Amino acid sequence: MAAPLVRDRNFIGGRWVDGTAGARLPSTNPATGEVLGVVPDSGPQDVDRAVRVATEAWPGWRAIPAPRRAEILFRTAELLVSRKEDLARLMTQEMGKILAETRGDVQEAIDMTYFVAGEGRRLHGYTTPSEMPRKAAYCVRAPLGVVGIITPWNFPVAIPSWKIIPALVCGNTVVFKPAPETPLVAAAFVAVLEEAGVPPGVVNLVTGGDQAGAALVDHAGLALVSFTGSTEVGLGVAARCAARGVRVSLEMGGKNAAIVLDDADLDLVTDALTWSAFGTTGQRCTACSRILVTPHAHGAVVERLAARAASLRVGSGLNAATEMGPLVSEAQRARVEQYVALGRSEGTRVVVGGARVAPTGFEHGFFYAPTVLDGVRPPMRVAQEEIFGPVVGVIRCATFDEAIDVTNGVRYGLSASIFTRDVSAAMRAVEEIRTGIVYVNHGTIGAEVHLPFGGTRHTGNGHREGGLQALDVFSEWKSIYIDYSGRLQRAQIDRE
Ligand code: UN1
Repeated sequence: MAAPLVRDRNFIGGRWVDGTAGARLPSTNPATGEVLGVVPDSGPQDVDRAVRVATEAWPGWRAIPAPRRAEILFRTAELLVSRKEDLARLMTQEMGKILAETRGDVQEAIDMTYFVAGEGRRLHGYTTPSEMPRKAAYCVRAPLGVVGIITPWNFPVAIPSWKIIPALVCGNTVVFKPAPETPLVAAAFVAVLEEAGVPPGVVNLVTGGDQAGAALVDHAGLALVSFTGSTEVGLGVAARCAARGVRVSLEMGGKNAAIVLDDADLDLVTDALTWSAFGTTGQRCTACSRILVTPHAHGAVVERLAARAASLRVGSGLNAATEMGPLVSEAQRARVEQYVALGRSEGTRVVVGGARVAPTGFEHGFFYAPTVLDGVRPPMRVAQEEIFGPVVGVIRCATFDEAIDVTNGVRYGLSASIFTRDVSAAMRAVEEIRTGIVYVNHGTIGAEVHLPFGGTRHTGNGHREGGLQALDVFSEWKSIYIDYSGRLQRAQIDRE
């Protein structure tokens, strides 16, 4: 293990500290079942301390000009580049996904950090003419205060970076509560921020589970909660924040569809959908979990995808030959098993997979075979609910129009894709699909950081991460009027 990276404590006020109550949570390697470390199972006292420290640090941080704050972020990006391999290895051990993907996760944080650090010299507002003579009017972005950040385990460095880095460039201070499955790599990321020179108290880390999360969401000192996780938990977070008038940004589930029309390039479809359905062991909110195929292509798509799924090498993510790692936890594997059982009882056909696997030497890991279900119909629960595992359902659609209706016929709206050589069909799909991200001749995963990321309907609450739009979450607008006429000029009234 990359020993110097491993921190197993909270980080509050610039110091690595134990939890006050002494309770601890293990972090487990999902490929082996081995405990990698134990971290504080923080409670309300720890969270309160972190929020108080972040509140005290805020005036100093927001007073630093944004271009100077951004210099610290550029240093963060450079350190992430130099630590990429160590962070990736730690992430594979703690979360399970293969090294190529954990390197990609760190790369996504590097990309985000460089992109957002550049905003330190922009953070554009605008000037505009006043309706009065001798009066200036302009607007600027103002920071919010202390922001609470709650992140999932599937992108343990990338997703925290999507939130923490824009929060910092905008001049906020942060209390960060990572998922209980991936606290060590979260702490390693915070250690990079510390090393880059983020001042004490500006970013604070509180590890733990539901108790810590609830204490953070309910804390009176927060200006914003930014949450990524399940729709069930996210809607609860939103309700609790709404009751106190606290802003909330939500990034939740997906049930992402890929449409394959009869004229599609099936080699490309097979490559792209294998990657979209089984990359990250299907544990992405952007994962492809429904393939909607028109009749002529149906048989070939199922056959090719099943053959590829059957051939995927499942095992430890640290092994360079492995193509798919374990699920993150026993609980997550049990959830997948329940959904496959449900799919069977709903009348779908398990074409391939549908069972645990135990790679030699990794019998205690949480592995499950890549699984393709055929004969899925749109109203089935397996066609409506997010599974978050290596399971993809094939739905036969008679026409393009039916495929569009089925794509839109779920409560989520994150990502979708269409495979076709027909430009008119592609453009119609782009227009008619109601998701936040649409791909043409590409699977449903692989968003880039400089475009807005997020979804419609129950995937979110209208905010976007990534892109310049992320700045809207972490700042609010301040409009400024400077009257240098030397007399009272009443807006809307003094028009002559
Ligand atoms: C997620 O699944 O939670 O677009 C994030 C993608 C990645 C991010 C996924 N860049 O698949």
